[in-house]
Amino acid sequence: MQAVSRSILRSACRSTRPSLAVLRQNHTEANPRQAESSSGPRTTHFGFKTVPEESKESLVKNVFNSVASSYDVMNDAMSMGVHRLWKDDFVSSLKPGRKGPMKCIDLAGGTGDVALRILDHARENYADRETTVDVVDINAEMLKEGYKRFKKTMYHNTPQIAFIESNAQALEQFPSDTYDLYTIAFGIRNCTSIPDVLKEAYRVLKPGGTFACLEFSKVNNPLLNMLYDQYSFSVIPIMGTILAGDRESYQYLVESIRRFPSQPDFAKMIQDAGFATGGNFEGKGGAWRDLWGGIACIHTGVKV
Ligand SMILES: C[S@@+](CC[C@H](N)C(=O)[O-])C[C@H]1O[C@@H](n2cnc3c(N)ncnc32)[C@H](O)[C@@H]1O
Repeated sequence: MQAVSRSILRSACRSTRPSLAVLRQNHTEANPRQAESSSGPRTTHFGFKTVPEESKESLVKNVFNSVASSYDVMNDAMSMGVHRLWKDDFVSSLKPGRKGPMKCIDLAGGTGDVALRILDHARENYADRETTVDVVDINAEMLKEGYKRFKKTMYHNTPQIAFIESNAQALEQFPSDTYDLYTIAFGIRNCTSIPDVLKEAYRVLKPGGTFACLEFSKVNNPLLNMLYDQYSFSVIPIMGTILAGDRESYQYLVESIRRFPSQPDFAKMIQDAGFATGGNFEGKGGAWRDLWGGIACIHTGVKV
């Protein structure tokens, strides 16, 4: 599977691209992780389960291997299409192409939802056919679905799009100070070390470049929170069983949302990585913007 996907991915890469390398996770610091003690190895969370931290990456890979072919259909079913509105909002708020062509990297880019929106936005609003997006994901199956999808678009076989298999926590194959825009949508909560993801985001962005994250977050209204919990824990795993034949993966997705840091805690992590956020950078707005009462949230930061 690895060999097949790699050859497919290579055909989409620009000629200047460094050779593909499947990077293994090798970082050790993470916010939710528990320090190693004499009683055993370091642990982290996988949904509501506690697992040895070295196994989380392969567990997450299994989830997305399992859901890749049904991912887009399930996304629409689970969110009743709302994820499309959030992604539209996310991308249009970033205005890719407004100041001229941009070099973008979309981490945990999966099937290319955000990348397609970036390219469409730049083309439709600014007649920009030079903005590029590198779609990067740890999972070759998800990238394969994205590649298939882009085959049907005008961007296929152009320098505007590339699919690259890599770990958001270890982007060694990408040079520093390279990108104008780094996006990550519904991906960072699946990573073992959020600080390592942010550190790498900061490194690969050019000074002045923007980090933008769309992620599920904390619902502030207690009534909405109760309804949302009911829906998430009762309906989504059943949909996973019926539509994708996979209850466990969808149970994990719901649990992983609940384990993600709150809006202020995540904003603090972004600032700790060196980014300037909203309130402290040229009046660019708040550090985050809630969507649908905090069901999802957009965080942005600027590399200073
Ligand atoms: C819920 S999907 C989101 C896909 C896409 N961004 C979207 O919004 O539709 C999460 C993605 O994160 C990827 N992922 C998980 N851990 C990763 C890591 N450490 N590095 C890169 N990608 C990762 C998964 O393979 C999966 O494609």
